[in-house]
Amino acid sequence: FKTLNDAELSGKRVLVRVDLNVPMKDGKVTDTTRIERVLPTIREISEAGGKVILLAHFGRPKGKVVAEMSLAPVAGPVADLLGKPVAFAADCTGDVAKAAVDAMADGDVLLLENTRFYAGEEKNDPEFAKALAANGDLYVNDAFSAAHRAHGSTEGIAKLLPAFAGRTMQAELEALGSALSTPERPVLAVVGGAKVSSKIDLLENLVSKVDILVIGGGMANTFLAAKGVNVGKSLCEHDLADTAIRIMAAAEKANCEIVLPADAVVAWEFAANTKNETVALDAIPADAMMLDVGAASIDVVKAKIDEAKTLVWNGPLGAFEIEPFDKATVAAAQHAAARTKEGKLKTVAGGGDTVAALNHAKASEDFSYISTAGGAFLEWLEGKALPGVVALEA
Ligand code: 3PG
Repeated sequence: FKTLNDAELSGKRVLVRVDLNVPMKDGKVTDTTRIERVLPTIREISEAGGKVILLAHFGRPKGKVVAEMSLAPVAGPVADLLGKPVAFAADCTGDVAKAAVDAMADGDVLLLENTRFYAGEEKNDPEFAKALAANGDLYVNDAFSAAHRAHGSTEGIAKLLPAFAGRTMQAELEALGSALSTPERPVLAVVGGAKVSSKIDLLENLVSKVDILVIGGGMANTFLAAKGVNVGKSLCEHDLADTAIRIMAAAEKANCEIVLPADAVVAWEFAANTKNETVALDAIPADAMMLDVGAASIDVVKAKIDEAKTLVWNGPLGAFEIEPFDKATVAAAQHAAARTKEGKLKTVAGGGDTVAALNHAKASEDFSYISTAGGAFLEWLEGKALPGVVALEA
């Protein structure tokens, strides 16, 4: 695909798809990571004399105007971080958008209202894409984290205007590519989270790509149960035993070592600082649940991290949101961060809970790359083509 290096930006109206789907509380942005990530692209276009017209969605208004899902409160934080005024237009198409674009000078930045206020966005209606494209000469997609959606502003529009990848899109694709497409081996994947059912495709894809797969979190219980371990009252999808067995067989065939917990931290209620015990797998009390992996498991995970040259991380190893069940996740994350800092490991992480878990472990800064993507990161781990990326390649 083409990048900003290939674009003639001066004097052009550049429609830039960004992901401003940021956490917000009481009308205030509470985490600016996604905004920070798109600043380089905005700056570069603006400094080259292009008019930067930002396209973004916020929340899931389902094709209707929903006041609480306006992007208006996001313009201020973008301007503050950019160090430059950001105008706002209360519509992303039509006369209002056109008037705001016509009023721009070269180098100016304008944010258009939530694209999902139109049903045509999610339907990828060609007429809607056309209405968006009417206000631009060029299209730049810098929203990897929305690239799994085939929407008007991510896919349809790329067919109507000369299309380029923004700097963050480029960085995401490079980082992810170097972790799974052309990685330094051995490659270790750490996959956690509550349910196998939400990550079957991901696990199946990973066993064919990575050398070692550590499975933690609630989903490990389903694998342990499939192997005959009595998991007591632990979160477990017993009906997925066959799936777990199939994945383990596929791993064996592909020479991928699956690493399951070697011991467990159990408790009798899901609560912070509740009574808990570390037990062997054959001694899980029938009335208790596993909320984290124990010290023996942590040692195994650390040893696997030491073996690996590349690590892909998605999902926590235990119930990291309540202490002390964050212990294994924190220990593994810190160990991976330290190996990365020593230059011995390349670490790529992404997905909703994962970033929160790594921040909690104070490990994110030393990771090689943290993706801002949730769903898009998962679909990429599943080996799926992302429509927003494919459209740039066409
Ligand atoms: C995200 O927050 O992961 C992206 O902005 C996509 O949002 P969506 O899941 O509502 O499409």
